[in-house]
Amino acid sequence: MTEKKTVAIVGATGAQGGGLARAILRDPSSGFAVRALTRRTASAPARALAESGADVVFADLDQVETLKRAFDGAHAAYCVTNFWEHSSPERELAQAAAMAHAVACAGTSHVIWSTLEDTRRWVPLDSDRMPTLLGRYKVPHFDAKGEANAEFIRRNVPATFLLTSFYWDNYIAFPGMGPRRDKSGVLTLTMPMGDKRLPGIAAEDIGRCAYGVLRTGSSYIGQTVGISGEHLTGAEIVSKISRAIGEDVRYEDLPADEYRNLDFPGADDLGNMFQFKRDFQDVFCQVRSVTQSRQLNPLMQTFDQWLGVNGRRIKGR
Ligand SMILES: NC(=O)c1ccc[n+]([C@@H]2O[C@H](COP(=O)([O-])OP(=O)(O)OC[C@H]3O[C@@H](n4cnc5c(N)ncnc54)[C@H](OP(=O)(O)O)[C@@H]3O)[C@@H](O)[C@H]2O)c1
Repeated sequence: MTEKKTVAIVGATGAQGGGLARAILRDPSSGFAVRALTRRTASAPARALAESGADVVFADLDQVETLKRAFDGAHAAYCVTNFWEHSSPERELAQAAAMAHAVACAGTSHVIWSTLEDTRRWVPLDSDRMPTLLGRYKVPHFDAKGEANAEFIRRNVPATFLLTSFYWDNYIAFPGMGPRRDKSGVLTLTMPMGDKRLPGIAAEDIGRCAYGVLRTGSSYIGQTVGISGEHLTGAEIVSKISRAIGEDVRYEDLPADEYRNLDFPGADDLGNMFQFKRDFQDVFCQVRSVTQSRQLNPLMQTFDQWLGVNGRRIKGR
């Protein structure tokens, strides 16, 4: 029997890395073994991974030595940061640099870096199209990831740059994102997207796409791969949610300036994000081919399929 190649997965206890870990663990013919990296080796998700056959090891993105140990001997690695845990683009950059350094030291053969656009390439800091945030960002949780691509490139890491999409799961779990009842009691989904299309994906499908990248061998090394399950307008999204939950949901296309001032953490960052996706729809959608994503992940869910399983968990606030 040939020995399995180890895939070291950052964020294995979370949405993206968890999807990749489960995709590998559920496929007996994968030829890969899962090494799940976590700060909390005794947490419920870490224990569930161990019970499914993963090797669970301690690693902390803020401690580069722990990453070097965790990547040692791995064939491949999935690298992701969690901006929303601290909301600091500088810390996100430092964590990405630590991973790039550690995989370079370990000589990992294939690294998938979960990234997003550096929006400053399209909206320079001196543009008044949208406000500059935290001193030198337009969309902090995008820009730091895009800026961090260079950390992998300058160390000659054999990396695939995976451009992820908006999780439909946000409608359940992300504060401020789901439908809310307006003053007259009507469920309302607020998004400053006009009639433009939002590439979306079931969070679980991100890891499955990453698995597809790893399964193809080395052909995606050095490539940027955008993934999405569907590109939908706000009107299409509320129509599908309405059908799934059996109650009308209204789409409110709030001006981006007003969205930035909504009362939830990160509203300014997310207001800029939606505006970027609206104003640069063609750029943003084109790089996230649904056809290519389906080739990588034949199990890719449509929004209707995702709603069929999860729709009842969408509640109005
Ligand atoms: N929501 C969206 O629509 C969307 C779309 C595209 C991209 N993103 C990006 O996705 C990222 C979050 O990924 P996710 O949704 O998979 O996260 P998640 O489900 O919230 O889980 C976070 C994961 O990151 C790990 N982690 C965080 N800080 C760590 C550290 N210091 N050391 C080691 N592990 C650490 C956690 O591991 P332990 O706690 O077990 O240590 C956990 O597995 C964010 O950066 C966000 O910007 C989100």
